[in-house]
Amino acid sequence: MTKRGYPGLFLSFEGTDGSGKSTQMRMLIERLRRDGLTVVENQEPGATHIGRQIRRILLDPAHQEMAGMTELLLMFASRAQAAAEIIRPALERGDIVVSDRFTDSTLAYQGEGRGIGFDAVLAAHKLALGDLLPDLTICMTIDVETGLGRAHKRNSTSDEQDNEARLDQQSLDFHHRVAEGYRKIARLEPGRLRLVPGEGEPAIVAERVWLEVAPVLGKR
Ligand code: TYD
Repeated sequence: MTKRGYPGLFLSFEGTDGSGKSTQMRMLIERLRRDGLTVVENQEPGATHIGRQIRRILLDPAHQEMAGMTELLLMFASRAQAAAEIIRPALERGDIVVSDRFTDSTLAYQGEGRGIGFDAVLAAHKLALGDLLPDLTICMTIDVETGLGRAHKRNSTSDEQDNEARLDQQSLDFHHRVAEGYRKIARLEPGRLRLVPGEGEPAIVAERVWLEVAPVLGKR
């Protein structure tokens, strides 16, 4: 039983665009499943039927006028649904939840990137999710410009291209602020959010990730 009162384990992956987060998440999930553990995946925004509809609204490039506060509340609407449908039941069953982004994304992108501030994001989190937070967060870091180059290459070959555009179209300054947002969280919660350098071969980066995850698994 973890200190939060459920038998499962809650892990999340974070990072700026193109940091290699999704690849590393996939590799970790495969490794955990090979070890016989039950892993439940969550993706934000999205994951549930309702969440996917919210995701479409959030990412639609036609929605240029979307206010920062609207964006923030939609992120939490999707997350509250995922918590009710996916995350809490899995943790109560004793499964491992691996979430592709969680509230740290909102702190970094809306709180720091859009300048809404950490306090407003944390207040929304409290309302939508109570004290639900990952036990461990792996935050992949990469030089912002290198990451954007990678993300751009991926999007230009993806079918989802049109839908993905709005949040990827932000200025370079915005992405630098997001990276600073993650560094700020790491300073506030060094035990929970671990910065893992995303440079290098995926297998080498995966070992860095494993060094962070293994001790937490051992404590279950
Ligand atoms: P996604 O396609 O999931 O990208 P990635 O592979 O980078 O995770 O797009 C999600 C986008 O939404 C991404 O640019 C980060 C952004 N985002 C926020 O701005 N706030 C949030 O709370 C979340 C979860 C995501």
